[in-house]
Amino acid sequence: MKKLLTTMLFSIAIIAVSATIGSAEDKGDAAKGKASYDSTCVACHGAEGKGDGVASAALDPKPRDLSDGAYVSTISNERLYKVISEGGAAVGLSPLMAAWSGVLSEQDIWNVIAYIRQDVCKCQYDGK
Ligand code: HEC
Repeated sequence: MKKLLTTMLFSIAIIAVSATIGSAEDKGDAAKGKASYDSTCVACHGAEGKGDGVASAALDPKPRDLSDGAYVSTISNERLYKVISEGGAAVGLSPLMAAWSGVLSEQDIWNVIAYIRQDVCKCQYDGK
């Protein structure tokens, strides 16, 4: 009986862990993310995420090229979440990358990350 209980608890733990590890597409809706991106990010990061939005000319450092799959695949979803929510300064980047937690909800941010993964960098985190 005790063994059965342990096995059951173990299985529940595994299910819980796999649910939190799930991909950005599992957590967010890319189509909704595009709408948020087009209203909040496009001025700096550009329509295709290349970092060439209308406001980018005045910025130093330049907005990162989010279409660069080789680069964005080195950034985990958790780090993307942190930089979008808390801003560049929270991860040692420029404060010109603002914090969006006051503008976008947690779900909005996961939607934007799903959009970046699916349509902008077309890449997943490669875990290195
Ligand atoms: C006012 C201009 C501006 C806006 C608007 C803006 N960003 Fe940025 N973003 C930047 C700049 C500048 C950097 C580069 C910071 C650096 O290199 O130190 C950056 C960097 C980033 C990075 C790179 C993080 C990394 O680890 O390299 C991501 C991801 C990002 N922005 C996503 C977004 C998203 C998503 C939005 C919309 C919710 C957004 N940005 C809106 C200016 C902006």
